[in-house]
Amino acid sequence: MTTRDGEPHPPWYKDAVIYELHVRAFCDGNADGIGDFPGLMTTLGYVRDLGVTALWLLPFYPSPLKDDGYDIADFTGVHADYGTLSDFQHFLDEAHRRGLRVITELVLNHTSDQHPWFQRARHALSGSVERDYYVWSDTPERYEGARIIFRDFEPSNWSWDPVAGAYYWHRFYAHQPDLNFDNPAVRRAILEVVDFWLGLGVDGLRLDAVPYLYEAEGTPSENVPLTHAFLKELRSHVDARFPDRMLLAEANQWPEDAATYFGTGDECHMAFHFPLMPRLYLAIRTEDRLPIIDVLAQTPPIPEACQWALFLRNHDELTLEMVSDEERLYLYRAFAQEPEARVNLGIRRRLAPLLGNDRRRIELLNALLCSLPGTPVIYYGDEIGMGDNVYLGDRDGVRTPMQWSADRNAGFSRAHPQQLYLPLIVDHEFHHQAVHVEAQQRNPHSLLNWMRRLLALRRHHLGGERAGAPAQGRAQHGLRACGAADAAGPARRAFGPRRRGRRRGPRPRGSGAGCVLAVSSMSTSPRTRAA
Ligand code: NOJ
Ligand code: CA
Repeated sequence: MTTRDGEPHPPWYKDAVIYELHVRAFCDGNADGIGDFPGLMTTLGYVRDLGVTALWLLPFYPSPLKDDGYDIADFTGVHADYGTLSDFQHFLDEAHRRGLRVITELVLNHTSDQHPWFQRARHALSGSVERDYYVWSDTPERYEGARIIFRDFEPSNWSWDPVAGAYYWHRFYAHQPDLNFDNPAVRRAILEVVDFWLGLGVDGLRLDAVPYLYEAEGTPSENVPLTHAFLKELRSHVDARFPDRMLLAEANQWPEDAATYFGTGDECHMAFHFPLMPRLYLAIRTEDRLPIIDVLAQTPPIPEACQWALFLRNHDELTLEMVSDEERLYLYRAFAQEPEARVNLGIRRRLAPLLGNDRRRIELLNALLCSLPGTPVIYYGDEIGMGDNVYLGDRDGVRTPMQWSADRNAGFSRAHPQQLYLPLIVDHEFHHQAVHVEAQQRNPHSLLNWMRRLLALRRHHLGGERAGAPAQGRAQHGLRACGAADAAGPARRAFGPRRRGRRRGPRPRGSGAGCVLAVSSMSTSPRTRAA
């Protein structure tokens, strides 16, 4: 298939807008206080009208929920709180009918300690295939080069299992033992999980914690070459069976390391750009474009079919791993004065509170999100400027129920308010009775309607797949930084669309296809430029 210009259609993820949500946080269909697939189904019109083209669902599988579902106890089921597998299939079909793609989580690095594989492993004979589903050791002194990621919660990457009489390896919580990718049976089992979900029709898989699949003595045990070898195997497995699907790497790494997850176009289709995210906040706070320019300059070119996933916030803390110590101190001071706002190596706040609920700053960062080179990922609730609650523990403060209306429980659930999986936001400035979809739908000047216009503008000029979308709307895909407007001072940055194989940079006015030159000023004071 080609566009009217005769260019091949870009893959769907290149001009997508992704909306990240948690099923349990979005809409409760059966009034038990927990969001579910039947509830989510009723909201598809909302997300489609917002202008997003793909939904990314956080883990919804059977789980003890000690890490909000990233601790999986059954890879091919649906947690009873959220519905059944047939509810999921129904949701998927309905999403597709509305032209929305669906991305789910492939949490392949680890399982819950309640997963039958781990229970079997700890009872199995040392050296057996079953035992070797996980990484065991007689001593906690192996792989000492590996950092501790959940440093506020775990003292070591090893924990003692009294049943096995051995230590097991875990990069995250102790209740999340790492799978052993050296074991071919594990690799096969993971490919079966992939086949299961892609076989149902899922469009994309986010590969959780992908840098940590393999360990290697004397190294930080991240980005190990064997991990890339497995990803190539995974990609060719997917390509051979499921056309038009997408693999998205969650690799919280420096640009050159993150880019290795694209391989030569034979590993992941997409990867999150982690280092860019904190630099957007740094730029806005210092009123200087340099942090953005620098990180883009450090970002290597990537294979044509690949794409960065860009984000401002997500379900985790605003991670400050990919900044210098000095920048981290500055960002903590600027955005997380209170100790409660800090967790691990990051800040547990939503977008609007981080930016002092300053509408112009919220618009600026969203405009950058939609004009920098990559696919924007929007975190649910940020399109209406939802608040957070730093007192809820871990990262729950940014995972509270979606606020739909001024009704009982913000329209999220008909349950008793005390039954909700997490309390609603009651902070005065962000109270759920004031910040909600219904009020913002009515007001043409609301953030929600501004976001809709922004996404519509992006879709109109830069493509964006929708069922029945006019072909000319897709002719240009992807964006690229097209230079910095130095003359006006250090605060500006301009971005424009990229045309493959043609002239670089934005087309001049009146040259035909739609073209937008986005100029962002990081400055708080007006800038002018002499002609
Ligand atoms: C990354 C996920 O984004 C995070 O929420 C989770 O806690 C860790 N992986 C461990 O699974
Ligand atoms: Ca429910």
